[in-house]
Amino acid sequence: MQKRKIMENIYWMGAIDWDRRLFDSLIPLPDGTSYNVYLVQGSDKTALLDTVDPPMAGELLAQLADVKKVDYIVSHHAEQDHSGTIPLVLERYPDAKVVATPKAKGMLMDILDIPESAFVTVGDGETLSLGDKTLKFIHTPWVHWPETMVTYLAEDKILFSCDFYGSHIATTDLFVTDQGRVHEAAKRYFAEIMMPFRTIIAKNMEKLKAHEIGMIAPSHGQIYDRPAWILEAYQDWVNGAPHNVVVLPFVSMHGSTRQMVDRLTAALVEQGVRVELFNLAVTDIGKLAMALVDAGTIVVGVPTVLAGPHPLAAYATLLANALRPKAKFLSIIGSYGWGGKTVETLAGMIPNLKVEVLDPVLCKGVPAASDFQLIDQLAAAIARKHEENGLR
Ligand code: FEO
Repeated sequence: MQKRKIMENIYWMGAIDWDRRLFDSLIPLPDGTSYNVYLVQGSDKTALLDTVDPPMAGELLAQLADVKKVDYIVSHHAEQDHSGTIPLVLERYPDAKVVATPKAKGMLMDILDIPESAFVTVGDGETLSLGDKTLKFIHTPWVHWPETMVTYLAEDKILFSCDFYGSHIATTDLFVTDQGRVHEAAKRYFAEIMMPFRTIIAKNMEKLKAHEIGMIAPSHGQIYDRPAWILEAYQDWVNGAPHNVVVLPFVSMHGSTRQMVDRLTAALVEQGVRVELFNLAVTDIGKLAMALVDAGTIVVGVPTVLAGPHPLAAYATLLANALRPKAKFLSIIGSYGWGGKTVETLAGMIPNLKVEVLDPVLCKGVPAASDFQLIDQLAAAIARKHEENGLR
């Protein structure tokens, strides 16, 4: 695909990765992704903002065929999907300088073996004139690594945000055309890589408030030409209270845990609490991560295997602990055959979660009427806690 004009002397470049289905050997990409690169041509100097994942380097180099001069390669983020082709671009433009935060410089030298002499480091708020266009660099750590920054192009009111506000969607649409689709993909992306760093991201968002943002151009997915809604969505995901929702990842081997899960779901719905179920034997973990953004309570449904939690439930618990959602309550339900340390093991896996643990309910074998009563009591306790905490 050829480069595409966004505004006068500002172009989209990069690659659309229609076939990619997994990121970091972990994150599902049901809709592929894109690696967006932007070319900003000022009256004096030209800057290339980010590059592409190395397997797609050929596409970027072909788009650069008629670009005679690149003075600066701005690297917002050292992760290879954006930085990996910098060495090849430097080969094409040996006089270009790589513009990065001091922390990114070190990481790029480690990851890509770029020589120190190729770098210009920029402080938070520093500007770089291209002539009639001015790039302002704003340090925004942890979107998604500690070295990340964004660029604000003052004259055109464009925020080049890299991973921040991005979404994994492969499409030929340059700008957002289906807000619902992008909202879901952006929320999934936030959940998977930024949710653990909400406190710092809230500070980054505060910093950006000083700038009039007419357009957000991320490095994955479509460009926001009317960005108000994605800025509002991030406010909710980062700063909003959890919702009146129970997220219930579970696994069942012979149906007993499933009976407990179904009973709890029905009881919660009767109490006016929304439930999102995820059967871990078949679920897309990206959807589970996305649901955790809003969860008021997490309940893990788990059978005991070899005296401990089923490994799929342990994996989901480990994931929830890493993602640090803002849920306020947590419980465990399930079944066991003869004994074990399922509850103790799972409870030891959530040191990052600031949750109140509600009494677990584990049954021996198939649940009896008395077990269902305890499940009903758990549902009532969750509903009461959500009410007391004003979760809507
Ligand atoms: Fe799109 Fe964190 O790289």
